[in-house]
Amino acid sequence: MPAVTIVGMQWGDEGKGKITDLLASEAEMVVRYQGGNNAGHTVVVNDEEFKLHLIPSGILYKDVVCVLGNGVVINPRVLLEEMEGLTKRGIDLSNLRISDRAQVIMPYHPVLDRLEEEARTAWRIGTTGKGIGPAYVDKYSRYDAIRFVDFIDEDYFRERLKEVVEVKNRVLKKVYNHPGFDCEEIFEEYREYAKALRPLVTDTSLLVYDAIKAGRKVLLEGAQGTLLDIDHGTFPFVSSSNPTAGGASAGTGVGPTMIEQVAGVIKAYTTRVGEGPFPTELSGDEAKCLREGRGREYGVTTGRPRRCGWFDAVIARYAARINGVTSIIITKLDVLDEFDTIKICTGYKYRGEILRDFPASLRILAECEPVFEEVPGWKQDITGIRDYDALPTEAKRYLERLAELTGAPISLVSVGWEREDTIVKTPIW
Ligand code: IMP
Repeated sequence: MPAVTIVGMQWGDEGKGKITDLLASEAEMVVRYQGGNNAGHTVVVNDEEFKLHLIPSGILYKDVVCVLGNGVVINPRVLLEEMEGLTKRGIDLSNLRISDRAQVIMPYHPVLDRLEEEARTAWRIGTTGKGIGPAYVDKYSRYDAIRFVDFIDEDYFRERLKEVVEVKNRVLKKVYNHPGFDCEEIFEEYREYAKALRPLVTDTSLLVYDAIKAGRKVLLEGAQGTLLDIDHGTFPFVSSSNPTAGGASAGTGVGPTMIEQVAGVIKAYTTRVGEGPFPTELSGDEAKCLREGRGREYGVTTGRPRRCGWFDAVIARYAARINGVTSIIITKLDVLDEFDTIKICTGYKYRGEILRDFPASLRILAECEPVFEEVPGWKQDITGIRDYDALPTEAKRYLERLAELTGAPISLVSVGWEREDTIVKTPIW
């Protein structure tokens, strides 16, 4: 059963968009399984750049069916804007589908996201402000959530909206001194969105199941990354869903036994946006070199500069285990082209002891000092290389050390932004 889950092994921004787009050239279906428009996937094709937030990265291929699964939280306004932007650029969207069980992000969700962050005094999560957390809170509290199946049922939606807005307004007014929302205004705006999106809404778990059963190649595309996972990430500095491989089954509605491989995407160094501890974080010239150079380490969704640091093998090993990774895809290797030497964190030193496993406690993590080994750089431009054996010896040694420390074999290596800037060591399909 040729279904492959693509997961991020760090704090998101590993380059999953490019990899999904690349693998989608041979796939028949790409399914997003969690998150929402907090994600930002950059895909570059023939010098043309596409920034996708909600729509799966397979959309650039005419025949690939692209699905927003039940685990996704969808802002219909943002989705329609993204669709319009792609249509204007000549992209065919006739194969886009939305799960009838996906959650709708309502106008009060981003407002609550901002107000909740502002109200925090001790620390802030540093969310993207897109309303993702509040939408998942409503999903799990159940009463206030609106799913697509309810959203496109106009009479039912109107009824539900009245009840929900009343509750939200009570909180907004009493807790946050916010004027609240007009239910009719939301209804008028959202009924137009519902009309536009209704033809795309279906039972996508059935679509995905049928495709996998028929032996078609299906990619399950994770957004964010392992350390932003609500259960396994650096809690509470995480997102509100399960980007890890376990989330792929719940967020698409196909059983875990139907998913054959888990490809873990991991950058040749580490980045993070938002708050929270980051053991291998760099400052000064080395951080600048990673951020400002070819790495272009700025958030696709928020434009915030990403914090940058060396490769952390404790994280890599942890992510390989949590996700049951079957192979790793190392991205942005070319960003290290100019370094004389490169450091790899192999363990954490905590109060005189060496930790080899990623700790749950952020207080411990914040006190951990990375233990580094230093390896020589290759000091040459590798962006044009397409054959693994043609890589400089130092680059191959670096990659092999990362694979050894992670405990998983390498399938692909990405050496540039463009689709074809990729080395296939072992094919995924
Ligand atoms: P939220 O998902 O907007 O609630 O943000 C929670 C945390 O996840 C913040 O630290 C965000 O910066 C981070 N985050 C959310 N989505 C992404 C992503 O796609 N890439 C990197 N970080 C993300």
